Amino acid sequence: MIPITTIERLANHVGETVTLRGWVHNKSSKGKLHFVQLRDGSGYVQCVVFKGDVSEELFEAIGHAGQESSLVLTGLVKAEPRAPGGFEIGVKAGDVLQKVEGFPITPKEHGPDFLLSHRHLWLRSKRPWAVMRIRDCVISAIRRFYDEQGFVCVDSPIFTPAACEGTSTLFEVNYFDDEKAYLTQSGQLYAEATAMALGKVYCFGPTFRAEKSKTRRHLTEFWMLEPEIAYATLDDVMQNAEELLCYVVKSVLERRQTELEVLERDLTKLHSITAPFPRLSYDDAHALLEKAAPGQHKYGDDFGAPDETILSNAYDRPVMVHRYPKEVKAFYMKRDAADPTKALCVDVLAPEGIGEIIGGSQREDDLELLLGRIKEHQLPEEAFAWYLDLRRYGSVPHGGFGLGLERTVAWICGLEHVREASPFPRMMYRIYP
Ligand code: 4AD
Ligand code: MG
Repeated sequence: MIPITTIERLANHVGETVTLRGWVHNKSSKGKLHFVQLRDGSGYVQCVVFKGDVSEELFEAIGHAGQESSLVLTGLVKAEPRAPGGFEIGVKAGDVLQKVEGFPITPKEHGPDFLLSHRHLWLRSKRPWAVMRIRDCVISAIRRFYDEQGFVCVDSPIFTPAACEGTSTLFEVNYFDDEKAYLTQSGQLYAEATAMALGKVYCFGPTFRAEKSKTRRHLTEFWMLEPEIAYATLDDVMQNAEELLCYVVKSVLERRQTELEVLERDLTKLHSITAPFPRLSYDDAHALLEKAAPGQHKYGDDFGAPDETILSNAYDRPVMVHRYPKEVKAFYMKRDAADPTKALCVDVLAPEGIGEIIGGSQREDDLELLLGRIKEHQLPEEAFAWYLDLRRYGSVPHGGFGLGLERTVAWICGLEHVREASPFPRMMYRIYP
């Protein structure tokens, strides 16, 4: 029996004959030889087809198999240090399942619009392949990190009766009998409930923002990781975020070297991601901006993209900006006892101009204060009745944060735009394919 294996596992089969199942990534021919760059999802390998080694029929069929033809090849695995990936297959037998001509995405340059419209096929190219494998590695590192620390994964609902992050960016859907529901902007409020039940929790799922922003940082659908910790202060939250980011970057460096090479990522930038990260109060961040670009940032305002760019470029690792004016932050954030005009919150800005990848805070745990906030923000009190119960029965200090998966992946991969970090990005002007 000839074993069926994948390109990723070829190192275990040197000197053996194996079967690979994949697609033609590229091909060239020279007299009695075909060189097939085979891809199977796990990697890329060169397969050499010598006319004298295979049936006439197969040699002919491979000769006519264009890019993305599906084929199964059986051959001898040789270590070949000069070949990309380090192995080569000497083909002995095989089968072309479907001969393809005219695959729309060729090795030549295509515009971003064309590529996005062909995302279902573009995903087969090397760059998206590398990004998706790094995205997967980030996700599994996150889950491993929290598993190891005894967190419990508890999912928050996607249909919700009310807003969490402000009403202006809600997608409304028709529920039954003319009842309205909204697609969640964040699983946080539910994570607070599960943290009171299970101690240390996280939710990790899709979130939605009807943001009319066409920037390179905004998607309308994105994945968010949200840890929530009972008895945590803002300092605990910041430390957890710092440890998580170091762990994730280290994991990607260890496990996704080939993919980072495909992306031509500057690895020195990732190697410098180690604790401690700089911590900067909002006031200090404002002062830094005043020096770098006098008059650009108005004290009291949130930071805009140009401000975040300056702040994040000032350091070689993520910077944690804490204690923003309460006015620019969400209703659920606790005030700083040392300065009640400030919220006990943190934004983590990634280096290299990516901007905010994490937003978090210590939560208001006092029933009366929280009720006042809900009224102030003119939020529907009935919809928050359950949330207020959390402050009625065993209220404790607690906090957490939200990490945007696509922005984090874009940062680690060195991508220009977050849309490349999502397999099928949803943006204001794109919902196809
Ligand atoms: O700062 P945000 O709005 O925080 C929250 O939603 C909190 N409830 C999270 C929490 O404390 N549990 O969003 C968190 C992160 C941002 O830092 C950013 O990385 C990402 O979500 N994000 C987006 N990513 C892509 N496109 C968008 N439109 C995004 N909006 C937020
Ligand atoms: Mg934020």
